[in-house]
Amino acid sequence: MNITNDVFYVGVNDHEIDLFEGMYDVPNGMAYNSYVIVDDKIVVMDSVDQNFGDQWLSNIAEVVGDRKPDYLVVQHMEPDHSANIARFMEEYPDAVVVSSEKAFTMMNNFFSTDFSDRRIVVAEKDTLTLGRHTLTFVTAPMVHWPEVIVTYDNADKILFSADGFGKFGALDVDEDWACEARRYYFGIVGKYGEQVQALLKKASSLEIEKICPLHGPVLTENLGYYLDLYNTWSSYGSESEGVVIAYTSVYGNTKKAVHLLAEKLKENGCPKVAVTDLARDDMAEAVEDAFRYNKIVFATTTYNGEIFPFMREFINNLTERGFKNKTVAFMENGSWAPMATKVMSKMLNGCKNLTFTENTVTILSALSDASKSQIVALAKELTK
Ligand code: FEO
Repeated sequence: MNITNDVFYVGVNDHEIDLFEGMYDVPNGMAYNSYVIVDDKIVVMDSVDQNFGDQWLSNIAEVVGDRKPDYLVVQHMEPDHSANIARFMEEYPDAVVVSSEKAFTMMNNFFSTDFSDRRIVVAEKDTLTLGRHTLTFVTAPMVHWPEVIVTYDNADKILFSADGFGKFGALDVDEDWACEARRYYFGIVGKYGEQVQALLKKASSLEIEKICPLHGPVLTENLGYYLDLYNTWSSYGSESEGVVIAYTSVYGNTKKAVHLLAEKLKENGCPKVAVTDLARDDMAEAVEDAFRYNKIVFATTTYNGEIFPFMREFINNLTERGFKNKTVAFMENGSWAPMATKVMSKMLNGCKNLTFTENTVTILSALSDASKSQIVALAKELTK
């Protein structure tokens, strides 16, 4: 695949993977992207997952023909991109690795060598001239690991963005970009909004015509759309007006209450109501929705004097990613000593700029006239 006349795609699609990063469900597989820039000098941008070394090297060989790569630029050391570095260096014994100081330390940890006689260490704004193309390296610490660099090609105005602007899903499956890019962003990079903001600020001074990430499609049109979404996500703004109701239910009584609340919210004209069963639906999707919409209702049972485990996991997922700037409501169920609202409030204590609703819902085992009235009042408050 040609990205431009002399930039080529040499990445791979993975449909065998069960969980990305050992955690994320990827029903449409995953792409590990890699690119080759052919100029007076030839550069390969990043490697791929360990299971795809043969295919990757064969893709490179097809692009370079009789020539050989001069450089391997390593932007990120997570193994989904770095696993084949040592193999590449054996295959091309004259090639040199170009990467950040921290990445070379990680190479030593992963491969017991930092290629000390075959390496170029680059730092902020260092450049590498290939002929027509000059690459400028920009540090992007914690987007998504500390060693990360991104790379700007001045000739074709391409930003090689490492994990930034990536998504779940292989490239041979057609699907909406934002849904799986958002789930990927909040799952993987969500904690590092501040660092993503810093990178966006650096990128704003560049004239960018194409974004080549390490996962997901090359972005070539309407780049403002993607940059705007990244700006919203990384600044912890809400992308859409709506209410997420995240719940757990043991015997179905909390679920009935949740569906009654959803019905009342819709009756009141709420623009979007997203209901998620934390025990059964995808946790990463629930996390994505919590950051996406401006209001959230946490609904769960008291359990062992605490809260139901899936809700605990969900709230932990939010707090460790810097959850903030939302309107929050609680719905608790408890047959003899309801504690859930108290426990959930405490868990969210450190989150900034949360507005708690005046109305909460307490269910004593099953819906009653009293709890139904609380639901009506909460729906009214959330849609006023
Ligand atoms: Fe795609 Fe952070 O590795």
